[in-house]
Amino acid sequence: MSKYKEIKKITVSHLKKMKQDGEKIACLTAYDYTSAKLVDSIGVDLVLVGDSLGMVINGYENTLRVSLDEIIYHTKAVKRGLKRAFLVADMPFGTYHVSDEETLKNCVRVIKEAGAEAVKLEGGKEIAPLIKKITQAGINVVGHIGLMPQFVHAMGGYKIQGRDGGEKLLEDAKALEEAGVFSIVLEGVVVDVAKKITESVNVPTIGIGSGKYCDGQILVFHDVFGMFDDFVPKFVKRYADVKRVIVEGGTKYVNDVKNFEFPDDEHSFF
Ligand code: KIV
Repeated sequence: MSKYKEIKKITVSHLKKMKQDGEKIACLTAYDYTSAKLVDSIGVDLVLVGDSLGMVINGYENTLRVSLDEIIYHTKAVKRGLKRAFLVADMPFGTYHVSDEETLKNCVRVIKEAGAEAVKLEGGKEIAPLIKKITQAGINVVGHIGLMPQFVHAMGGYKIQGRDGGEKLLEDAKALEEAGVFSIVLEGVVVDVAKKITESVNVPTIGIGSGKYCDGQILVFHDVFGMFDDFVPKFVKRYADVKRVIVEGGTKYVNDVKNFEFPDDEHSFF
């Protein structure tokens, strides 16, 4: 059994040590109190309040419309559901792009108001100086490179990264490490390049669609449990079919109401 299962509260130091120990880091997204309690109870090490909430919670077509207030609202709820897992919140598009001062103010809100233990920002070496300023303010930062959903328009769609050998990605990862990130998400990166990056940096890499050599893995809650099927990427493995369970149970409920079978005496007061 993993010695990390016994840890009462996962910290940045544990996550870094897991890489050294060869212990894989299990991560999931969550957006509310109930799902946070569930993922905490199954031993997930890191929970991300991702801007993927734009799609799976709000039904937006991409992550770009997510606001800082939405991230703060959902992070507060998730925080209340967690005991053990480390809590990271995404910085939405536009909240770290205007000025250093505004970026710091926004990151501070996510830590102070929402209770996140770290923030995640998309971008490579171009934002390394900005990340340095955030980490120097005492804020834990997770980097995010490869396929960056906030760059969907700039990249002309969601495209797998690293097919050119991944030299720029490796430079990005090293620059982010140098700037002080404690972990780097690698999204949609070809397996060999993700492996090379993972072997070249001392901070743990968390993969999503980036193969088995990353130090940890993350998936979106609604994808893993089969609740969201507007679009299912190739890298998603379904571990449950919650949509089917809800549709089956829900259909019975509707029929019971229509047929005067619910509520019965057992579920009534006399
Ligand atoms: O928004 C998100 O959920 C993410 C992923 C890494 C899962 O950024």
